[in-house]
Amino acid sequence: EKGGHDYFMLKEIEEQPAGVADTLIGHFSHDRDGGRIVLDEQRLTDQELREIDKVFVVACGSSYHAGLLAKYAIEHWTRLPVEVELASEFRYRDPVLDRSTLVVAISQSGETADTLEAVRHAKEQKARVLAICNTNGAQIPRESDAVLYTRTGPEIGVASTKAFLAQVTANYLLGLALAQARGTKYPDEVAREFAELEAMPKLVARVLETAPQVRAIARELAQVRTVLFLGRHVGYPVALEGALKLKELAYIHAEGFAAGELKHGPIALIEDGLPVIVVMPSPKGRTVLHSKLLSNIREIQARGARTIVIAEEGDETVRPFADHLIEIPAAPTLFQPLLSTIPLQVFAAEVAQTRGYDIDKPRNLAKSVTVE
Ligand code: F6R
Repeated sequence: EKGGHDYFMLKEIEEQPAGVADTLIGHFSHDRDGGRIVLDEQRLTDQELREIDKVFVVACGSSYHAGLLAKYAIEHWTRLPVEVELASEFRYRDPVLDRSTLVVAISQSGETADTLEAVRHAKEQKARVLAICNTNGAQIPRESDAVLYTRTGPEIGVASTKAFLAQVTANYLLGLALAQARGTKYPDEVAREFAELEAMPKLVARVLETAPQVRAIARELAQVRTVLFLGRHVGYPVALEGALKLKELAYIHAEGFAAGELKHGPIALIEDGLPVIVVMPSPKGRTVLHSKLLSNIREIQARGARTIVIAEEGDETVRPFADHLIEIPAAPTLFQPLLSTIPLQVFAAEVAQTRGYDIDKPRNLAKSVTVE
């Protein structure tokens, strides 16, 4: 049942190409104009989607990190303002909601109490609610106006891996569906983005081939006390997710930072031998961000940090500053998290296993958190 692995989590990491592909299936219908994105349980009309003037994404833990990524895609494609909020904070601060607000609730289990209460609060305020969920018929989708299911199969490992990647995939579908309903993208542009998404599972599979290299690095670093993760733009939520995986599985202090914040404080933490994992943006396109991150790595390496860099294949500029270089295939910027997250999952799992921990059942954690 674990597909030859010692742990479900390892099997679930390997199921990610299929999880991304399956989440896309049936969501694009070809027509004369190119085609249309179709959601699952769509109880919201295109007219209602056109009336939306702001989006809140609410979720917890890894699902919250997926939510942070939704913001980049939805704002870029739809020009709608998006706020991402921890579900446990959302309803306690009297958020400004009305019928032209779309609240997107992301939950693997569909039963997380904090997220469910955020959905109920949103509905009381007459906001429209759309759920992104991995569990058919769970409470959160039942109480929502529309649903987009992540179709990656049940996730058994307590730490989210394949569900996270599927949630990120679903975010893109939602972003494109909103762009199409609101006319901010032409049908052929939507079709082109969807085709790029359909190409991602193959690239996800290629990133899995880096696992032996990542595991070797993890075994070398397994006894460290702290690991820092840095990223920018879509690499920032990936850094947060990498840090969360390491905390929950390996019980090591880990923090994710937006690399631009380094000089505003965290750089004081850098000392000899401190491992810092950096998620590099593509050297193409966002060259400003790329060069800024490059100077960040140079800075921390000069202060003695041990740098583990995840960068696009062929990005030779990082090599001099990377004590370890993990190469991932080139992908459209918005979709890069589908690739860059994977080495961080493998890293956390291997550190935890080297330390002798049960990676399917980390201490003090439950798969579904049904109390607030
Ligand atoms: C981390 C993890 C948790 C969940 C969080 C939300 O690996 O699994 O942080 O992401 O408890 O759970 P769902 O998505 O079921 O609402």
